Amino acid sequence: MAINYSERIPNNVDLSNDRALQRALEHWQPRFLDWWREMGPNDFSAADIYLRTAIGVDAAGWAHYGSVKMPDYRWGIFLADPIPERTIAFGDFHGQPVWQQVPGEFRSQFRRLIVTQGDTEPASVEQQHRLGHTCPSLYDLRNLFQVNVEEGRHLWAMVYLLHAYFGRDGREEAEELLERHSGNVDKPRILSTFNEPIDDWLAFFMFSYFTDRDGKFQLKSLAESSFDPLARTCRFMLTEEAHHMFVGETGINRVIRRTLEAIKELGSDEPAAVRSHGAIDLSTVQRYLDFWFSSSLDLFGAEISSNAASSFANSIKGRPDEAQFEDHLCTEARYEIDVPDGANTRKESVGLRSAMNEVTRNAYARDCEIGVKRWNTLIRKAGVDFELKLPSTRFRRAIGAWANIPTDLQGNIISAEAHSRVLSEWLPSAADRSFVASLMQRVVEPGKMASWIAPPDRGINNLPVDYEYVLFG
Ligand SMILES: [Fe+2]
Ligand SMILES: [Fe+2]
Repeated sequence: MAINYSERIPNNVDLSNDRALQRALEHWQPRFLDWWREMGPNDFSAADIYLRTAIGVDAAGWAHYGSVKMPDYRWGIFLADPIPERTIAFGDFHGQPVWQQVPGEFRSQFRRLIVTQGDTEPASVEQQHRLGHTCPSLYDLRNLFQVNVEEGRHLWAMVYLLHAYFGRDGREEAEELLERHSGNVDKPRILSTFNEPIDDWLAFFMFSYFTDRDGKFQLKSLAESSFDPLARTCRFMLTEEAHHMFVGETGINRVIRRTLEAIKELGSDEPAAVRSHGAIDLSTVQRYLDFWFSSSLDLFGAEISSNAASSFANSIKGRPDEAQFEDHLCTEARYEIDVPDGANTRKESVGLRSAMNEVTRNAYARDCEIGVKRWNTLIRKAGVDFELKLPSTRFRRAIGAWANIPTDLQGNIISAEAHSRVLSEWLPSAADRSFVASLMQRVVEPGKMASWIAPPDRGINNLPVDYEYVLFG
C-alpha cells in the first residue's frame, strides 16, 4: 500500500523522495505502533485528546493544536533549520565545517550516544503507562498524554538518524529500542533511572522536573555536535522538552500550594494532620525530591571519564551552551573534583576534557535550584517554616567517584550503619508511597482537581482550565 508520507509522517527531511528511508520506516513504523499499543497509554486509545502536533519547525508549525486519538498521532521527523556555514564549536576539529555524514572512525561512538538517548524516550512512556487511571484532573491527563506522544516523537527522531545514517546496524538498533523495556529483568532500559517505576503523580512531576531536565542537558550537549543532522534534531527536540519540564515544575508548585492551603485551613503543619486533610506533607515532597534528583545525577556519568574526554576531543558531544565558554579546546585547562578519601574528601585535579560530565552535572544542579527557590518562596510567603533543599551531588550515587559511598544529605561521609539507619528518613518509605497512592483517585470532571493539588493558573493554548481536554471514547 502506498503511503502518502508528507501527510502521514509530517517531516522536513524530504521523506517522499527518499526511497531507502521509506523502506526502513515501512518496516519499523508498524512495530512502533505495536509497541505503543502494548506499552503505551493503551487504555485511552479511543479517547479524543487536545494535543499539540509538530507539523513544521517554524513558530506556526511546531505548535499545532487539535483533538486527536493517540494511536492516530502523526509522529513526525523534524530537524531545526540549518545554520548557514556552521562550524564546529569545540574539540580537536574546532573551527572546521560541520559534518553532514558520520566519519567512519567515530561511527560507533555516535551510534552509542544516539541509541542511549533514544532508549530513554520510549522508556519514559513505559514508566508512565498506568498513570492515566489516577489522573488528578483532565488538564493533567492531557499533559501526561502530550508528554507521552512527544517522547514517542523523540524516539522517532533518534530512529530517523539511525535509519538515515547508520545503515544495517542502525536498523538493528532501531528494532532493539522497541525490545528493551523499562524495569524488565531480562532486557531493561540502558540507564537505571529509566527502570524506576513511576506509580504516582508526585513521582511523575518529580521525574518531569528532574529527569526531563537531564534530557534538556543531554540534548543541549548533542545540539553542539559536529554531526549536523544530530545537532539539528536535538535543537528541535528541546522546544518540546521545555513543556515536559513545565509540567514538572508547575505540578510540584501546585502540590505545594495545595499543601500550604491545607496548613492554613488546619492551623497546623503537622505532617499527620496535613495528610488526614488529603494533602501531601512537605517532608514527603522533600523525600521524593531526594530520590529523583539523586537518581537523575547518575545519568551524567562518572566525574572522571575517558569516554567524555574522547567525545569532547572528537567534537562529538560538547558542553551545553558551548558558546558561553572562552576555551573550546580545553587541552591545557584543569578541573578540580572532590573525591572520597577514606572518611574524608580530597580535591583531585584532572584535565578538563576528562571532567566534562561533572561540568554538565554541575550546570544541571544549578538549573534544578531555580525551581526549588520558587517553591521555597511560596512556602515562605505562606509563613510556613520549611525549606526544600536539593541534596548534595554526592548523595546516593551509583555511578562515579561517589558510587556506593554512604553520605548524608549534605554530602558528608558517614558510617554505613548510620546511613542505612537514616536513609528511610531521606527517601520515600513504603508508608509514604502507600499514603501518596491512597490519594491517587481519578478526577475527570472538567475543571475539577483532586484533593492534593491546586488548579493550574491557566489552561492549555489559552483555553480555560475547565475545558474538556480529554473526551473518553
Ligand atoms: Fe524526550
Ligand atoms: Fe521529555
